[in-house]
Amino acid sequence: MEDISAKNPRHIAIVMDGNGRWAKDKKKPRVWGHKAGVTAARKVIRAAAEANIEVLSLFGFSSENWRRPKKEVDHIFSLFFDALSNEVEELHHNNIQVRIIGSRSRFDLPLIEKIEATENLTRKNTGLVLAIAIDYGGQWDICEGIKSLVEDIHSGKLAADDIKPTLFSHYLSLGDLPDPDLFIRPSGEQRISNFFIWQLAYAELYFPNVYWPDFNEKEFAKALDFFTSRQRRFGFTGEQISKSGEGYA
Ligand code: IPE
Ligand code: MG
Repeated sequence: MEDISAKNPRHIAIVMDGNGRWAKDKKKPRVWGHKAGVTAARKVIRAAAEANIEVLSLFGFSSENWRRPKKEVDHIFSLFFDALSNEVEELHHNNIQVRIIGSRSRFDLPLIEKIEATENLTRKNTGLVLAIAIDYGGQWDICEGIKSLVEDIHSGKLAADDIKPTLFSHYLSLGDLPDPDLFIRPSGEQRISNFFIWQLAYAELYFPNVYWPDFNEKEFAKALDFFTSRQRRFGFTGEQISKSGEGYA
C-alpha cells in the first residue's frame, strides 16, 4: 500500500485565532472562547500525534497580546498554567516532548517553575514535539538569535564570514528541528502576525474559515489534504519536480 504519511508535513505551525469571535457569536464572554480554545488544542495535539507529525507549534500568546485588557491577559495565563498542570501527565504518557518558546521575562515564578518542570519531565520523549509559543514574536526570536550570534563572534567561536541561512537557523527557537511545512491560521485572518518569520520561508499557508474552538480532528484532516495536494517546488520548475517522481522535493 502507498505510504501517504511520507507526504504529510513534518512540522505544522498553527495560530490559534478566533476564540473571542467564537464566544461573541454565542453571546458569551471572550474568556469562554479561550477555554474552548484549550479543548480544541487538546484535540489537535492528539490528531497530530496520531498522524505521526514530528513537530506541532501552537501560537497561544504573542509579544503584542500584552496590549489586551489585564483581566483577559490574566485569564489566558491562568488557563495556560492550568492546562500545563492538568495535561502534563497525559502528554508524557503519550511520549510527547513539550517545549515552551518565547520570552519568559514577564512570567511569575510559579509559571516559570511549571514550564521548567514540564520541559524537564518530557525532555527525553521521542514522539511528537509540541512547541507552545507564549509571549513569542518572530521579530523577538530573530533579535535573540542575533544577540547569541554576536556573542559567538566576539568570543571568536565564529567569523562574520561564516554567517549563512543554514547556520543562523540554529540560533532561532526550534533551530534543531525542521522548519514548518504547513502554516494554519483559522478564523478568516490571512496574516502571519509576527509568528515564525524566518522559519516560514517555504511553508504552505492554509486559512480555514472556522474559528479556532471549532477546529477539530475533521478540520485537521482537511488541512493535511490541502497540504498533500500542493506541489512544493523550492525554486525548481514544476517539470523538474514531476520528473523526480516524488510529487515534491
Ligand atoms: C486567539 O483568539 C487567542 C489569543 C490570541 C490569546 P483571539 O482572542 O485573538 O480571538 P479573536 O481574534 O478576538 O476572535
Ligand atoms: Mg485574534
